[in-house]
Amino acid sequence: MTGPKILDKFELIERVSRFYNRYGSDLEQISELLKIRLTQLALAYTIKNNLPPEAIRVLTRVKSQSSFLKKLENKKWPQFYYPTDIIKDLVGARVICWFIDDCYGIKSFISSSKHIVIDKNIEDYITEPKESGYRSIHLQGSISYDAITRDIDSDEIIIGSKNMACEIQIRTKLQDAWADITHEFHYKAKNAGVDNQFYEESLSQISDRLRGEEKAILTLRNAYQKLADEKTKENKREGFQST
Ligand code: GTP
Ligand code: MG
Repeated sequence: MTGPKILDKFELIERVSRFYNRYGSDLEQISELLKIRLTQLALAYTIKNNLPPEAIRVLTRVKSQSSFLKKLENKKWPQFYYPTDIIKDLVGARVICWFIDDCYGIKSFISSSKHIVIDKNIEDYITEPKESGYRSIHLQGSISYDAITRDIDSDEIIIGSKNMACEIQIRTKLQDAWADITHEFHYKAKNAGVDNQFYEESLSQISDRLRGEEKAILTLRNAYQKLADEKTKENKREGFQST
């Protein structure tokens, strides 16, 4: 018995191209759906925690065909049947929070969603940052969606529930700024084989300083909250109308 045929680089490129032609618009729709689901969870979280809706921002995207091929090249052209067998962030989301404690709060809200199933292997680079200083929580999982399929026996069109792999990255606004800016010159150079310990240490120190600032912001927010609460109580005692 022979196993599946081993595909060379050009056959794999052809497979990717066919996949994008066939499923490109479906992927865009699933990405929109993921955005709606995560935005609903974020809204529920901000209401529960007395935050303005802007305190958590959700972005989603579909990986472009050219980034997909670049990633395959970096991974030295692994064999696959479905692209999601080897690349989990074909549909990806970023959840950006003002405050560091909300990263963990929204993570548990997402984990309790019925529409998004999160795998157990969570990568928490906030608790354990990468050597470069990269900090973010990466959740891998799948989102369910309604899809039309054809029943093999009856040839009938049916609507069934399907799942699509997705990756959700959660981080603070400061962490996001660091990652966005350094991605352009550090991460791309690193992927091209550049390895400079001295510069990487400097990047990591910037990230550490931002972590310090995040803690300071949280402390100040809590202090202001306490003062505002006390003031409201005081005003009530004195018979003023609260604003
Ligand atoms: P891939 O998703 O295939 O890269 O596999 P992986 O799970 O081993 O990668 P990892 O979780 O380390 O990183 C996934 C994504 O996080 C990358 O595509 C980047 O966007 C981001 N990332 C990881 N490390 C860094 C870093 O040092 N700097 C920046 N700016 N981004 C990073
Ligand atoms: Mg990862």
